[in-house]
Amino acid sequence: MKIAITGKGGVGKTTLAGVLARLLAEKGKKVLAVDADPDANLASAIGFSEDEVEKIEPIASLKDLIKERTGAEPGQSGSFFSMNPKVDDIPDKYSLNKDSIKLLVMGAVEKGGVGCICPESALIRQLVKHLVIARDEVVIMDMEAGIEHLGRATAEAVDAFIIVIEPGLRSVQTAKTIKKLAADIGIENIYVVINKASPGLDAKNLVDSLSGLKLIGTLPSSPKIQESDLSGLSPYDADKDFVAKLDEIIESLDLK
Ligand SMILES: Nc1ncnc2c1ncn2[C@@H]1O[C@H](COP(=O)(O)OP(=O)(O)O)[C@@H](O)[C@H]1O
Ligand SMILES: [Mg+2]
Repeated sequence: MKIAITGKGGVGKTTLAGVLARLLAEKGKKVLAVDADPDANLASAIGFSEDEVEKIEPIASLKDLIKERTGAEPGQSGSFFSMNPKVDDIPDKYSLNKDSIKLLVMGAVEKGGVGCICPESALIRQLVKHLVIARDEVVIMDMEAGIEHLGRATAEAVDAFIIVIEPGLRSVQTAKTIKKLAADIGIENIYVVINKASPGLDAKNLVDSLSGLKLIGTLPSSPKIQESDLSGLSPYDADKDFVAKLDEIIESLDLK
């Protein structure tokens, strides 16, 4: 089961990814959680302690590793470097472990010009491909609002591409942009989840605006989740009803 989560900033991607990682681990699955958002904070959403979070070294910041594997210094977009560096030992060496969850943090890649790729992005791209195609764990990937790091072959191996929206047309706009990018590289299993729905929400407008996007469920706005982010508790431990609701949504996809 390989799931990628994306959507506009602040809609709840990391919250959902964190809850999902814990939920599937609780069900006895081995989980590989991937923080692919440059603004990385999946670790605390999973429930790693502050001390553990501080120890994290994102892959993109491991200069020696990048040089060793690609043959070029990070940031050198004009130089020659390997586009298929060795990555298969990276997940076990560089992940943070908690019960049956492994977390890999990709980190921020210096953006080059249009169509330009630098050594660290080549390494991360290859690593993401390896995770999705060759590892046998459940992979949960927390992404930014786009499909960075995903090539066609990787995209084809993703079982569910979940775009999170909140009750607001701006997040739907972002969802549509993402859908277009995703469709361009052949991603088909694109689903939408509404998060932060208030109790009396009249979602008709929102649902109407989703033309062509497949809505698979709605998650409530939860004061407990909001408070958990303030107190440092993981959302999984904070609100069991929210967890149960997300479980239902994922089960309905019937992923293997
Ligand atoms: N269902 C929810 N109810 C209340 N607050 C939520 C809910 N989902 C997420 N949040 C809060 O919204 C903020 C943004 O969530 P986050 O998961 O970090 O979004 P993203 O990763 O998409 O930027 C966080 O403070 C989080 O606790
Ligand atoms: Mg996030």
